[in-house]
Amino acid sequence: MKFFADTSDLDELKDLADLGLLDGVTTNPSIIAKSGKEFIPLIKEICDIAGGTPVSAEVAATDYETMRKEADVLRAIADNIAVKVPLTEAGIRTCKELSDEGTMVNVTLCFSPGQALLAAKAGAAFISPFVGRLDDISFQGLELIADIVTIYDNYPQYDTEVLVASVRNPMHIIESAKMGAQVMTAPPKVIKQLFNHPLTDKGLAAFVEDWAKTGQSIL
Ligand code: E4P
Repeated sequence: MKFFADTSDLDELKDLADLGLLDGVTTNPSIIAKSGKEFIPLIKEICDIAGGTPVSAEVAATDYETMRKEADVLRAIADNIAVKVPLTEAGIRTCKELSDEGTMVNVTLCFSPGQALLAAKAGAAFISPFVGRLDDISFQGLELIADIVTIYDNYPQYDTEVLVASVRNPMHIIESAKMGAQVMTAPPKVIKQLFNHPLTDKGLAAFVEDWAKTGQSIL
């Protein structure tokens, strides 16, 4: 499973890259607003850190004409840009055109299997189903992932990768991985939670203590 970081925080991205856990980056207008930084220069910096892995930069317009122009600006930033478009008629039309021209497109705000089918037919590189936001309204977000993985598996001609989004906890990642979703994007804090296990902490404390008793040094 590829790990994308759902953040524009450069220090967090560098940290994940150093750990070898950064396979791509996703942003959205809310993440950019939170950063307080200028959009295009920030995306350029993110692309440098991402080292050629996909960086999702989202259009702001909702009408096709403006969206298409914005998409052209965004994809010119770097070769590893995945233009992010919403799951609307304008977004799907833009997706089809850009995908036909060889640009990666991430179709976002997916909340149903039917929407995922539309994105695959438009040649999207990624479909972003939002697990956490479905959970928030008492739907089973992970069921959507299972449905999309099943549908895409039935049609091997679709190259669209399932990018599990709105990830809120490690179980979202683990259950999606069990289903075979190719990618997930999560805040770095959630990715780091995968390290945690009390038996690892307890076992390491015992090893450290026992090693000290030997009086030896490896170096
Ligand atoms: C990713 O592409 C999405 O923008 C993101 O995962 C949304 O997450 P949220 O529901 O926590 O805002």
